[in-house]
Amino acid sequence: MAGLHKGDRIALLTSGGDAPGMNAALRAAAKVGLSLGLEVLGVEDGYRGLIDGRFRPIDLRELDDNARRGGTVLGTARSKVFPTAEGQTRAREQIIKANLSGLVVMGGNGSLTGARVLSEAVTASGAPFGVVGIPASIDNDIGCTSLSIGVDTAMNTIMEACDRIADTALAHQRIFIVEVMGRDCGYLAMTAGISCGADVVLTREGDKTDEQIIDQVMRAVEAAYARPSGRRHVLVIKSEGVRFESGALKTAIDARISDKYPEVDTRVTVLGHVVRGGSPTALDRLLGSRLANVAVRALHAGDSQLMAGWAIPGQTRASSRWDPHVTLWPIEEVLTETARLHAGSHDLVRWRVRALSEAEPVLYL
Ligand code: F6P
Repeated sequence: MAGLHKGDRIALLTSGGDAPGMNAALRAAAKVGLSLGLEVLGVEDGYRGLIDGRFRPIDLRELDDNARRGGTVLGTARSKVFPTAEGQTRAREQIIKANLSGLVVMGGNGSLTGARVLSEAVTASGAPFGVVGIPASIDNDIGCTSLSIGVDTAMNTIMEACDRIADTALAHQRIFIVEVMGRDCGYLAMTAGISCGADVVLTREGDKTDEQIIDQVMRAVEAAYARPSGRRHVLVIKSEGVRFESGALKTAIDARISDKYPEVDTRVTVLGHVVRGGSPTALDRLLGSRLANVAVRALHAGDSQLMAGWAIPGQTRASSRWDPHVTLWPIEEVLTETARLHAGSHDLVRWRVRALSEAEPVLYL
């Protein structure tokens, strides 16, 4: 694809689950685009807005004000129409009508799948349409990037919540089961669990039966109630993807402890969407800004069908020329790697499962 020229028009779009740091990434994308002489528009409400042709001029003041906030000023959606042939035709028509030369898509797996679909789009002059993706999802389940926008903030939110829960758990000598978001990826549960010293971390990738989970929690219970009274509590962090429902786990644990520990209570806290909101951490703002910088410069240079990913240990692909920590990966490869992460066949998932099982007896010491 030929590079873009002064006055060419690009658009920014956020899609799927919002992630803290998206606004900082939008600010950086807009400023870099403008500095390169491009005209920058925002698409409202993700692919839903693209289909409807809802574009708006970028307001730098709004972006400056909101870079410190969670959510996305552009709005986001999980469009049901875009994945259909009709939705995609309408999106391609709107791209021509708005005279767009390129698009930056920020989001997770579904959003990047949408970005690949737009590779068939053309500009008003019939030239290939440029699309570059930026990984943004608190789940950290996207391939070809070691971090996605929003993960660090979500991890810190879980850690703060668990620290608070630990205060009351200790005061009452209770067992707490804290359920955290992450869809089918246990990354948030695992990293937050280590950060806040949980006794048990349960992930879907661990692939344990209900009985194995109960036994694991009971081992932590036995260890905890053998400690001196100032250290008697159990913190279980459970990823929402674990099939054993949190309420059912509580019931099972209560049944097992009722004779030996009749005074011990079990409580369940589901953190839910609390984990997805809030002011982005410095790391998420920086990550968003650096990924966006490379994404827009790549689009400007004429690259397309790529995603800007954060450095991966041992990666063989060269870094981008604009930032040694950011690498541009073919979206096709990103989606293949993401599918392997979701299926559990990726080396990284195998390592996480192994590391967690090795950590199990360490956690409840
Ligand atoms: O993918 C991000 C995420 O927050 C997941 O962790 C969660 O399972 C899902 O989105 C919730 O989606 P929704 O906001 O549509 O309920």
